[in-house]
Amino acid sequence: MIAILGATGYVGSHYLSYLRTRGIACEGLSRAELDYADFSTFLGWLKDRRPDFVINAAGYTGKPNVDACELNKAECLFGNAVLPGRIRQACEETKTPWGHVSSGCVFQGRPSDNLGWTEDDQPNFSFRSPPCSFYSGTKALGEEMLRGAANCYVWRLRVPFNHEDSNRNYLTKLLQYDRLLDVENSLSHLDDYVAATFACWEKQIPFGLYNVVNPGAVTTLQVVEWIKEAGLTAKEFSFFESEREFMQEAGRTPRSSCVLDSSKIIDAGVPLRPVEEACRDSLRRMAN
Ligand SMILES: NC(=O)c1ccc[n+]([C@@H]2O[C@H](COP(=O)([O-])OP(=O)(O)OC[C@H]3O[C@@H](n4cnc5c(N)ncnc54)[C@H](OP(=O)(O)O)[C@@H]3O)[C@@H](O)[C@H]2O)c1
Repeated sequence: MIAILGATGYVGSHYLSYLRTRGIACEGLSRAELDYADFSTFLGWLKDRRPDFVINAAGYTGKPNVDACELNKAECLFGNAVLPGRIRQACEETKTPWGHVSSGCVFQGRPSDNLGWTEDDQPNFSFRSPPCSFYSGTKALGEEMLRGAANCYVWRLRVPFNHEDSNRNYLTKLLQYDRLLDVENSLSHLDDYVAATFACWEKQIPFGLYNVVNPGAVTTLQVVEWIKEAGLTAKEFSFFESEREFMQEAGRTPRSSCVLDSSKIIDAGVPLRPVEEACRDSLRRMAN
């Protein structure tokens, strides 16, 4: 049986439906029913239920957006840094293999050799390498908590999207915003991410840290062109002139925009389609 922590959330619910669709025995956990954030409660549950694998899709992202993390720091720090440490301890004590949903937002920009950041690079958008947002700082701390963890995957997700209408979907967000910031980013097709991360476990690739983004990078401007080509809107998009203007008018905290290299997971035998293909495919499906 596969256990999913945070199965009520945006990412966790996609794991749940993916596994159910494939007929794989799984159980979604919510703190409302079983307080997995409490160490002894979770340890007891693991000892009792003995799941084959645990997926931690729980965490604090901030609603309506990452700016909320600046206001709810205790909750954010707990969900993103303390909780993974507790899950590690409980999984290590019971020798339960598991995977943790992390984020690519611990990086800013792209490295000077012009390729994406790899798993060997140190986060450069974190409390140890400021400036950063409070959210990114806690996600980097979460990764630190899991360094050297036994039987543990750490999977970096970045700007999830797919064809479904949701205010958490990057493509839906672009369609809704009045003004956009043109930045370059790696993206993760959410269903590709869920399938690829679960394939890590199924294929028994080595435990460790993986960037799980569709290969390549996109700019906001490029995606807007594809949105128009797909006939999804007739509206004229307007853009902030600079990140400075964005921060003055719309944002409370700096956003991470970054390019990640996903060759480690692909070389380990878990394929991911190029970001342009994944993006245009989602837009086509949204338009139909
Ligand atoms: N969405 C994104 O854009 C994105 C991008 C990169 C990485 N991630 C990461 O993916 C994970 C899941 O994100 P999501 O977008 O699915 O978030 P979400 O929709 O807010 O769901 C997260 C779930 O985590 C559980 N949770 C446990 N402790 C929590 C706490 N202290 N504060 C808030 N929720 C807590 C909640 O479930 P119960 O209370 O029901 O247990 C909640 O439903 C997070 O670790 C996030 O950092 C998300």
